[in-house]
Amino acid sequence: MSLYSTLLLIPCVFYVSAYESYIDLIPNGENVKYTSCSNLTNWQAVGHVTAGYTGNPFQRNLFGEAFAAANYTWTADLCNADSDMDGMKNGDELGFINCTLASVWRTDPSSVTLTTPEGHPGICEVTADTPAGVNCDSVNADIPAAQC
Ligand SMILES: *[C@@H]1O[C@H](CO)[C@@H](O)[C@H](O)[C@H]1NC(C)=O
Ligand SMILES: *[C@@H]1O[C@H](CO)[C@@H](O)[C@H](O)[C@H]1NC(C)=O
Ligand SMILES: *[C@@H]1O[C@H](CO)[C@@H](O)[C@H](O)[C@H]1NC(C)=O
Repeated sequence: MSLYSTLLLIPCVFYVSAYESYIDLIPNGENVKYTSCSNLTNWQAVGHVTAGYTGNPFQRNLFGEAFAAANYTWTADLCNADSDMDGMKNGDELGFINCTLASVWRTDPSSVTLTTPEGHPGICEVTADTPAGVNCDSVNADIPAAQC
């Protein structure tokens, strides 16, 4: 491998490992799925507008914005917030039912029992709980997979 191609690869390595380290800071971050049309996708880049490392992966979804604003820290406030406005709070979407345990989870993740994620915290998914005034199509305008 030439020196030149080695230098080109370095940013990519940092780039992918940044995602992986952020995922560890989000409860069930590696287990989030999203069903678009009829396709079930494992959404690895939970704070971003695309599922993987394609498209415009630097662009954050609403949960990613909130996570960044919280200094990449899982807090009770972030857990109780409903970043994608769909009527289900982030904690419930991620399977983190008791938000008061956020700081406990940060220091000792294995001490908090997580449940299966109920949704995607950064994609507005219409349910019976979605407020009438929320238009998920508008909220999801930047998310290609949500355009069915
Ligand atoms: C997703 O689902 C649509 C509609 O069923 C299908 O046409 C498309 O090929 C699927 N895409 C992938 C990547 O599986
Ligand atoms: C994030 O960190 C900055 C710099 O340390 C600090 O000013 C800010 O208050 C922090 N924000 C939150 C939400 O903790
Ligand atoms: C959440 O956890 C705290 C601390 O363990 C506990 O006191 C509280 O009862 C729990 N709340 C729920 C709803 O389980």
